[in-house]
Amino acid sequence: MTDTILFDDKLYPVNKKNKVDGINLLNNIKDETIATAFFDPQYRGLLDKMKYGNEGENRGKARSELPQMSDDVIKEFIIEFNRIIKKSGHLFLWVDKYHLCTGILDWFYNTDFKLVDMIVWDKDKIGMGYRSRRKSEYLIVFQKEPIRAKGCWTLHNIPDVWTEKTIKTHPHSKPIDLQKQLILATTNENDFVCDPASGGYSVFECCKLTGRNFIGGDVEYGED
Ligand SMILES: C[S@@+](CC[C@H](N)C(=O)[O-])C[C@H]1O[C@@H](n2cnc3c(N)ncnc32)[C@H](O)[C@@H]1O
Repeated sequence: MTDTILFDDKLYPVNKKNKVDGINLLNNIKDETIATAFFDPQYRGLLDKMKYGNEGENRGKARSELPQMSDDVIKEFIIEFNRIIKKSGHLFLWVDKYHLCTGILDWFYNTDFKLVDMIVWDKDKIGMGYRSRRKSEYLIVFQKEPIRAKGCWTLHNIPDVWTEKTIKTHPHSKPIDLQKQLILATTNENDFVCDPASGGYSVFECCKLTGRNFIGGDVEYGED
């Protein structure tokens, strides 16, 4: 039943870890059916451009072995998000410091998304780095037009610096409590939340905890 709200024909089950290319999954979702989406691309940028030095060896190995996304692939994802997210719905984009500083707005050219906020995630744990050592990641908040906060963002106690340790189920696991609060702020019970590059499925966990429907998958992780 929930599946037919989202898909015309080829079905990817809702509330399941689908092993699938995210673009195929998004291509099959009907227009303007998703309340909120999370996108956590597998970047090459930071590794290539800031030359942290240890990628591909020891600690960096698990990360550098994950399938990477080019800028063109990321843009393809964003075009599909633009089609499937409801009017005034949200897209939460995880970025590293390289992308935060050099900009990502050209990925959103010709879409109905506007940048409306940003949250710094303090991982409460120090990582590696040639110069300063990594301790944070960034979540950029986009809203699809028409832009409005009233009625579309219902929690008003989320700080824009959020400290949380993760439970590692994936090299890039994201914070459950933060994502849970964002889902509560931007969706209603039984709404659909989409994450097409789910990794360790932290967003799926948040959906289970909040009574939202999850549609998502990962090209490497999940069930066929
Ligand atoms: C940064 S991780 C996501 C981590 C996730 N947010 C979490 O909390 O565990 C990015 C994921 O994108 C996946 N990926 C790369 N290309 C993909 C594609 N075309 N379709 C779906 N997933 C893809 C990788 O396998 C990787 O698991």
